[in-house]
Amino acid sequence: MTASERVAESQRCFLSHSANETFALGARLGQLLAPGDFIGLIGDLGTGKTEFVRGVAQGAGVSAAEVSSPTFAIISAYRGRIPIYHADFFRIRDYDEAYATGFTDLLESDGAVLVEWLNRVPRAAPRELILLSFEDLGGEERRILAYAYGTRYQHRLQTLIPDAGSSKL
Ligand SMILES: Nc1ncnc2c1ncn2[C@@H]1O[C@H](COP(=O)(O)OP(=O)(O)OP(=O)(O)O)[C@@H](O)[C@H]1O
Ligand SMILES: [Mg+2]
Repeated sequence: MTASERVAESQRCFLSHSANETFALGARLGQLLAPGDFIGLIGDLGTGKTEFVRGVAQGAGVSAAEVSSPTFAIISAYRGRIPIYHADFFRIRDYDEAYATGFTDLLESDGAVLVEWLNRVPRAAPRELILLSFEDLGGEERRILAYAYGTRYQHRLQTLIPDAGSSKL
């Protein structure tokens, strides 16, 4: 499921200089999401995946209170313009465990699905997805590499991050 195994229809690079900037990028994606969409987020601890998802939720019309409420669930569901399902596979060991969470039902659902640590369970990735890879460049700088796998995401990734010029992949 990594970039090297398949050719992405589109790829972009976004440099974030603050948590707010990462949140804002997420919020823009939240405005573009449609039912059935799947977003995978990978990258080390503390690189901004959850910050991004919080932005997505806000952009999709989820109230801030709903997202900030503490939860220990592996999958959280937020009610926005469309349902937003937020899963975190950090503690998931294999596909069977992911399956047991009811995760696969979400793929057929009326909402958009975002999964942190998708690389822990590569089999859980659908053929078509947006994959976001977060990297800490020091301080508050984060590099977010974005890949659209599947034509359904190609245009939206280009809308989200219009400038391909900074892309050095
Ligand atoms: N440019 C940035 N983008 C995102 N977060 C940033 C940035 N600069 C600093 N931060 C800080 O880094 C932390 C990112 O935490 P976050 O929970 O989003 O990471 P994560 O990738 O989800 O980690 P985990 O793998 O543990 O779930 C926050 O404390 C945030 O304030
Ligand atoms: Mg997180």
